[in-house]
Amino acid sequence: TWTTHNVVEEQTAAIREQVGTKRVICGLSGGVDSAVAAALVQKAVGSQLTCVFVDHGLLRKGEAEQVEKDFVAATGVQLKVVDAQERFLAALAGKTDPEEKRKIIGREFIRVFEQAASEVVADAGAHGEQVEFLVQGTLYPDVVESGGGTGTANIKSHHNVGGLPEDLQFRLVEPLRKLFKDEVRKVGEELGLPSEIVWRQPFPGPGLGIRIIGEVTRDRLDLLRDADAIAREELTAAGLDREIWQCPVVLLADVRSVGVQGDGRTYGHPVVLRPVSSEDAMTADWSRLPYEVLERISTRITNEVAEVNRVVLDVTSKPPGTIEWE
Ligand code: XMP
Repeated sequence: TWTTHNVVEEQTAAIREQVGTKRVICGLSGGVDSAVAAALVQKAVGSQLTCVFVDHGLLRKGEAEQVEKDFVAATGVQLKVVDAQERFLAALAGKTDPEEKRKIIGREFIRVFEQAASEVVADAGAHGEQVEFLVQGTLYPDVVESGGGTGTANIKSHHNVGGLPEDLQFRLVEPLRKLFKDEVRKVGEELGLPSEIVWRQPFPGPGLGIRIIGEVTRDRLDLLRDADAIAREELTAAGLDREIWQCPVVLLADVRSVGVQGDGRTYGHPVVLRPVSSEDAMTADWSRLPYEVLERISTRITNEVAEVNRVVLDVTSKPPGTIEWE
């Protein structure tokens, strides 16, 4: 019978068998799949695993800390954190085209991850060990979609995980290959991961970089992080997290509109709420959020986030609109 307990037992045994005494590396994205995969490997082979987390500065409020503190506390994993915020900001300076921004973020991510992976490999080598395996949070639907292949890889597909150069060849450990998303979450709970990680809604690899319409700057990121945190807090408080698929908060950084606050005229930026319901993100419908919740989010964002004086609601389904604005 299928129980999360059995899945954990089976997978940890399989991982031990596959990995033996070799070293393993895993890229953490902050998302649920890589976190649960890493936690399983950690349970199976503990100190043989090193996780790498690239902080590109495009995460939401509290997410880097969740990986650096809560995930480490829950699992005891060895973590190498790379603070690459300056590097990403520099690479994105002056860029406004959505595709160009995505390419830059993907490219920088791969370079930083490669560098960190080489360092882990070199460190292990200095101790006479070899890093032979790379953990991937591949789920069953990904396996089916891509035709079921497995084996060695340098990973190009998904920059959440990081790509690796030809000369760093790893064999893959994919402990979630038989699982669907809801099962992955159950396994995560069984492993004692924080619910903020286990129940995280989808978040794109390029992060807030594609939710700032216009150039990405540190100030704009901070502003959007604040607005996004308020929206998430209120949606959570209203008990809507599992009902909505995700709710991007988008900053229209190059748009200004006139407002009035206190006793003065303001000339600030709008943010867009984009709550959607969906089964698989291929299609989506805009969520009919309760007016009271929308009101609280709007009031709080305009009161608490300086420079935002207008909150607007995106009522477009997918198609024709994509979920993200870029
Ligand atoms: P769109 O905007 O295409 O988004 O309707 C569909 C789903 O995919 C997420 N998304 C991404 N996820 N890397 C990711 O890992 C990406 O580059 C990326 N772009 C979009 C989006 O949040 C939504 O859930």
